[in-house]
Amino acid sequence: MNLAGFQIAALFVLTFISVGHSCMKMDKATTIVARTIEENGFTNPLPIPISINGTSAVMDAKSGSAILGNGITANALSYGNADILGPTIRIVQGEHFKLNFTNRLAEATNIHWHGLEVPADQDGYPTDVTVPGGSFQYDFEIKNRPGTYWYHPHPDMATASQAYRGMAGFFIVGSPEETELGLPVGEYDVPIVVQDKRIENGALNYNPSDDDRSVGMFGESVLVNGVTSPIFEVATRVYRFRLLNGSNARIYNFALSSGENFQLIGTDGGLLDAPISVPSVLLAPGERADILVNFGTFSPGNELYLQSNAFAGTETQGKQAYKILNFHVVRQENDPFVLPASLMNVDKIPETEAIATRSFNIGHMMAHNGMASSGGMIHPLDGRFFDPNRRDEVVNGGSSEIWEFDNTNGTETHPMHLHAGQFQVLSRTGGRGRVEPWEKGWKDTVLAFPGEKVRIIIRFPKNTGKYVFHCHNLEHEDGGMMLNYEIK
Ligand code: C2O
Ligand code: CU
Ligand code: CU
Repeated sequence: MNLAGFQIAALFVLTFISVGHSCMKMDKATTIVARTIEENGFTNPLPIPISINGTSAVMDAKSGSAILGNGITANALSYGNADILGPTIRIVQGEHFKLNFTNRLAEATNIHWHGLEVPADQDGYPTDVTVPGGSFQYDFEIKNRPGTYWYHPHPDMATASQAYRGMAGFFIVGSPEETELGLPVGEYDVPIVVQDKRIENGALNYNPSDDDRSVGMFGESVLVNGVTSPIFEVATRVYRFRLLNGSNARIYNFALSSGENFQLIGTDGGLLDAPISVPSVLLAPGERADILVNFGTFSPGNELYLQSNAFAGTETQGKQAYKILNFHVVRQENDPFVLPASLMNVDKIPETEAIATRSFNIGHMMAHNGMASSGGMIHPLDGRFFDPNRRDEVVNGGSSEIWEFDNTNGTETHPMHLHAGQFQVLSRTGGRGRVEPWEKGWKDTVLAFPGEKVRIIIRFPKNTGKYVFHCHNLEHEDGGMMLNYEIK
């Protein structure tokens, strides 16, 4: 090696060491692995959260105890139910959502309407909170396409803690156009939220270690609609399942244990233009998939599972395959359902409509233990940590832009989520190198594995004000991986 080469090499080593001391440590990073899922016998009936009418809703945030199945009752926070899960809010596109919300918790909270296009003062901005004992009237028009949205708390640096302890619910938008498609309804239209929790001595506490703050909080128990080891009894017909990954950090690669394909009909922002037959759907925290499963090929007495298959792309998770929900086929039923050839038009935003491109480096290395110092801020987004007093990006309402989330040099998975509106995924380079079937419709959250760069296009709604975009690994979000953007 000549002198210049040696100097460069020395500089590189020194840079690596100094970075290693101040912020990250590579060898440690590769050893943090998601907690192993423990499967027990499937014995607990799947609860279906109650539905309430969104045009005149009343909801309290409060703490209480939740029945998690297998004889476990745990302290939990909730939106006024006996169950851990909040009520499913149902409403029709174009209607006015009205909610009288009271905070009966001992801590400040607020509600974010994940995926919905709402005015800035209705969006649950991190510092826009309702104090203990306080109330807030949410009131906004439903602009979104029919689909599966959800709600959860969003207070600055407490989103992970409050969501983990139980606060979340479905927000389902319908429309006459959707009804005409004749998709399964009523007891055949089943919302399914999957969340891994750590149940220790019958309690559901949020006490993340430094490792948990680094890679995310993983549990050993998978709860479906709030219970562990669930059974769902089905008839020999087609069901609509609205899958939501409501976990803090875990990614699921949903598939049927029979190995059969199912029909993917919707994504984060509602129905696809046509059904797609797929063997699996990979959902990161915050993402949804609407699927149709045909039990018509089974007979009463048969059993199968919704499971998570192993997947590649990250060192932290994906190595384990495990069962999630046990289907018992219990009765024969005639099925009048015919799969429509087309569903609902997805208006493609042309790339030429974009007036700007913004690139965000999301690829920092895994946070190191010693780093959890400066107020818990350990996960940067494009080199910055969340600061409610800053204006990071300013965009024009009604204009379109391309945003790039670049995880090329990262070591962790980051599901990136934008508030204010839905976007479309243009491309993914590196890693999987493709746009997945469940990324073909409207989206509000998109996953970037280490090594991947994802490009999206968004047409900003004409709502003015300050919104956020962030990583939906909730430990990353609370650890600083969130920025502001203002729509003018
Ligand atoms: Cu589901 Cu900013 O959140
Ligand atoms: Cu770091
Ligand atoms: Cu992240």
